[in-house]
Amino acid sequence: MDLRLRAPLDMHLHLREGAMLELVAPLSAHSFAAAVVMPNLVPVVDTLERLSDYRAKIEAATAPHTFTPLMTLFFRPYDEAMLAAMRPYIIGIKLYPEGVTTNTADGVRDLLRIEPTLAAMERLGIPLLVHGESHGFVLDREAEFLQIYARWASRFPRLTIVMEHITTAAALRLLDQYANLAATVTLHHLLLTLDDLAGGLLSPHLFCKPIVKRPEDRAALLEAALRAHPRLMFGSDSAPHPVERKEAANCAAGIFSAPVILPLLAELFAQHDALAQLQAFVSDNARAIYGLTPPAKTVTLARRPWQVPARYGEVVPFYAGQTLEWQVVDVQAN
Ligand code: DOR
Ligand code: ZN
Repeated sequence: MDLRLRAPLDMHLHLREGAMLELVAPLSAHSFAAAVVMPNLVPVVDTLERLSDYRAKIEAATAPHTFTPLMTLFFRPYDEAMLAAMRPYIIGIKLYPEGVTTNTADGVRDLLRIEPTLAAMERLGIPLLVHGESHGFVLDREAEFLQIYARWASRFPRLTIVMEHITTAAALRLLDQYANLAATVTLHHLLLTLDDLAGGLLSPHLFCKPIVKRPEDRAALLEAALRAHPRLMFGSDSAPHPVERKEAANCAAGIFSAPVILPLLAELFAQHDALAQLQAFVSDNARAIYGLTPPAKTVTLARRPWQVPARYGEVVPFYAGQTLEWQVVDVQAN
């Protein structure tokens, strides 16, 4: 039986710039109604001018599709006037601790000194999106950051704080403790553990930040996704890098999942007899959390095997060369 999804949303996406933007953006715009676009470009997106210019380039690259880029601003200690001026153009502000991942040299060094900006965002109703990792041991970075989430969630109870790409059972427990916390989870963190990345021969195309974790973490995330936990949203964190940056001595972090997301989600939810929850997980939860009204778009998937290409241009996709059970067979903008 076919599966119909209304307005699928990717609540965490890297589209890059230039030729890479033109290569990857249509792949997301084809089957998603909207996506939250990350600002970690070089230089970062931290002015209205840069944001408008980037948005126009995304719109040009995705022109034939019904697709809304939901723009984010790179977190800086902005003052309230600047925040008020930016508010109409953004879905939220993305905070990266300094140096935690790709292009974050301009991230926040001292997390305790930025609270005046958080207070202003709370007053203005601007969501805070966070790459929540410390600078500690790589497997513990998310767990160590949870105390920061707890502090901000209690000090700013009307600030919506989105814990981006959560990877641990502990993060899910925290999500249930504060009503103003929400979270995204990626496809790859629902499918992979550290064994897939490094248990046998090293798989650079499965290397991402936060790093994939333990089987019990994956199990907890999957359980929450399959029942469409109401404060958990799908966000792919699809993050393309050219093949020479991945198959390299210093492999860049990022998994390019954009071309395979909905087929793999359908397969995963079908396997667990949870297809009825997929609509909430890929769209309705995010609509409720952000108060969004995405453009009307109906995406139909059918159980019809196809083979994932080995490459899209110079980028190796997640599941490259493998056969997937489901595919997108129809997209209607209505
Ligand atoms: O794996 C990742 N890649 N994690 C991030 O947080 C950033 C992203 C990127 O921009 O490449
Ligand atoms: Zn990301």
